[in-house]
Amino acid sequence: MSEIKIGVIGVGGWGKNHLRVLSELRALDAICDISEERVRDNSRKYGVEGYTDVDAFLRRDLDGVIVSTPTRTHFQVALKAIGEKKNLLVEKPFTYDVQEGETLLRKAKENGVILTVGFIERFNPAMREAKRLVANGTIGAPLYLIFTRENRWPAHILDVGVILDTTIHDIDLSRWFFEKEPTIVFARTGRFGIDRERVSALTLGFPEERSSLIISNWITPRKLRQREIVGENGLISLD
Ligand SMILES: NC(=O)c1ccc[n+]([C@@H]2O[C@H](COP(=O)([O-])OP(=O)(O)OC[C@H]3O[C@@H](n4cnc5c(N)ncnc54)[C@H](O)[C@@H]3O)[C@@H](O)[C@H]2O)c1
Repeated sequence: MSEIKIGVIGVGGWGKNHLRVLSELRALDAICDISEERVRDNSRKYGVEGYTDVDAFLRRDLDGVIVSTPTRTHFQVALKAIGEKKNLLVEKPFTYDVQEGETLLRKAKENGVILTVGFIERFNPAMREAKRLVANGTIGAPLYLIFTRENRWPAHILDVGVILDTTIHDIDLSRWFFEKEPTIVFARTGRFGIDRERVSALTLGFPEERSSLIISNWITPRKLRQREIVGENGLISLD
């Protein structure tokens, strides 16, 4: 066991990746899920303590907690963790609505805990290289960014649509590349027969006439992920 002790709440499809990596880092200390079966299987697999009761899990002495539960539960789970003075990584999207997010930020400050969000694309080696090339001026100042993601709807996601689940990565990357907040947002979405949007086309307008175009599609049965950063002197194309 390393000196850092991290616990994971929510050990479903994505949480399993956190378990694997934390275990490799020898930092996994305990897990929590409302599913008894998942707790049993994973605590056995990784040889760590497992809990189905979030309150009992949070009373444990932990240096940090990862919240990898469904999006609509992030707020309640994270609020409890902050109340127990746990440093926190909350999976993307941070919260279901803005007010919840602002409340968590305020509570984290009041309790003196670190609070961060699992925007993994910022750690994607291709994205980091693109960011480096933009920062050192290789392609000149970026004029616009184009992001396209297509993949069949992941049927286990029942609580949010494509914008909060998928597009959110590219909204974050746009803010990261421009290092500014958008001042104009245009969004067109399509539900195509279900209760949440499955296709979205966004234009974000950034200061100094810069833009980001983001298309996300949960219908077409092929996996596509393309990004272009178009600058004054060149472009970076990632596939
Ligand atoms: N960073 C990324 O690229 C990335 C990728 C995939 C998913 N995610 C995020 O991870 C989160 C989880 O997604 P998933 O695909 O693993 O979902 P999932 O449904 O496969 O797993 C969620 C798990 O949380 C458990 N759970 C539900 N409510 C709980 C509660 N109140 N307390 C404790 N456990 C609870 C469920 O039993 C389940 O095991 C979502 O917010 C999703 O957006 C992030």
